[in-house]
Amino acid sequence: MTPNPQPAIIVHGGAGRIRAEELPRRLDGCKAAALAGWEIIQQGGSALDAAEAAVVVLEDNPLFNAGTGSTLNSLGQVEMDAAIMAGETLRAGAVAAVQGIKNPIKLARRVMEDGRHLLFAGEGALLFAREIGFPQCDPDALIVEAERTRWQEKHGTVGCVAMDADGRIAVATSTGGIFNKLPGRVGDSPLIGCGTYADDDGGVSCTGQGEAVIRIVMAKTALDFLKEGANPEAAAHQAIALLAQKTGGTAGLIIIDRQGKIGYARNTERMPVALIGSAGEIQLDS
Ligand code: GLY
Repeated sequence: MTPNPQPAIIVHGGAGRIRAEELPRRLDGCKAAALAGWEIIQQGGSALDAAEAAVVVLEDNPLFNAGTGSTLNSLGQVEMDAAIMAGETLRAGAVAAVQGIKNPIKLARRVMEDGRHLLFAGEGALLFAREIGFPQCDPDALIVEAERTRWQEKHGTVGCVAMDADGRIAVATSTGGIFNKLPGRVGDSPLIGCGTYADDDGGVSCTGQGEAVIRIVMAKTALDFLKEGANPEAAAHQAIALLAQKTGGTAGLIIIDRQGKIGYARNTERMPVALIGSAGEIQLDS
């Protein structure tokens, strides 16, 4: 663990095209999420709790493609993926292609805490939820009216990387996946190393075209660039450049290293982010 770690947090609200008039509300949503996580860290809480809390805020905001407001698959249903990981212990939990769960990131956390398995998919995830008494909701309750009418524009994923005052790093990522996906399709977000990864050296959450992100194992690849000496900003850009070169795909990622330094990069038009670093001031970017 780093001596005198500098707590830090960054959240993303998904990489893709965002209409200019929608951007302020998306940035506000990211800001609210980052502040929710930051408050936990400021009160001495863990990076894991902070990352989970930040992602819950984004899942509950219908503007974002996660939880309530998730994009619809080819059958007009919401099917969601989420993962959470603690860098210090490499413990992780994930759910894939789940329906009727208001906050998939909370269920992913319960998978992690349970510890028997790391990733549950589809009906098995719901069986696990029932077994542990985790609440389920009507799958249609997660479909917002605006989504039915403008579902083709929905994209992205939400995510958070946080480092607490003890230098622990955690990552949480949650998504409704990609528009019009076939039922059962699983993206990068719940796949450890692909859309979500954390260890002692840093944490990464990705957003974008899952099929491309998976092929270069982007979250772990970005951390490997960090381990080879790149700073977080450079590591993020190198991972995106590799993605573009090897797959032609588009994506974005956020990263925090063991010193609490923050980086992010995208090759999409937009990726709203909110971050708080050593200065303690919130910054927004897109
Ligand atoms: N990056 C989210 C997905 O492809 O599902």
